[in-house]
Amino acid sequence: MHNMKRVQMLDFPQHGDARGHLVIVEGAKDIPFEIKRAFYIYGSDADVVRGQHANRLSEFVLINVAGKSKVKVKDGAGNEAIYCLNRPHTGVYLPNMVWKEMYDFSPDSVLLVLASTHYDPDEYIRDYRDFETEVQAFAE
Ligand code: TYD
Repeated sequence: MHNMKRVQMLDFPQHGDARGHLVIVEGAKDIPFEIKRAFYIYGSDADVVRGQHANRLSEFVLINVAGKSKVKVKDGAGNEAIYCLNRPHTGVYLPNMVWKEMYDFSPDSVLLVLASTHYDPDEYIRDYRDFETEVQAFAE
């Protein structure tokens, strides 16, 4: 449960005026970590499920800068929560060691992901049973 409690929606200030909207996200200010990496996901069909992994080290903030998607988060100990990302000025913070699945992408979905680390495939846990085992080992 510990890491599920750290998952939270973030609401970023909007600096809109007659010219349009502007949202600013600064590392270690609006985002609860220094940003080392950004990537974005688009063109995923509605029936696609992405993610399906946990990260031993990386923390993430996910923002649907266009369109909509959903994120299911699991703690490996029986708890899960679903977050709807449908506004360019809101995001969800995911700490390390939570399982995540992104799905229900709208055709116009552009999902921006900000990460606390550079990419390292070795810190990914891609098997759910392995994740459960590591969570249990950590709790003992
Ligand atoms: P993957 O983790 O499966 O994407 P998602 O979690 O969105 O479903 O990554 C797809 C491919 O891209 C995989 O071969 C690893 C590579 N990749 C990088 O090289 N760097 C990165 O920062 C990320 C997120 C993925």
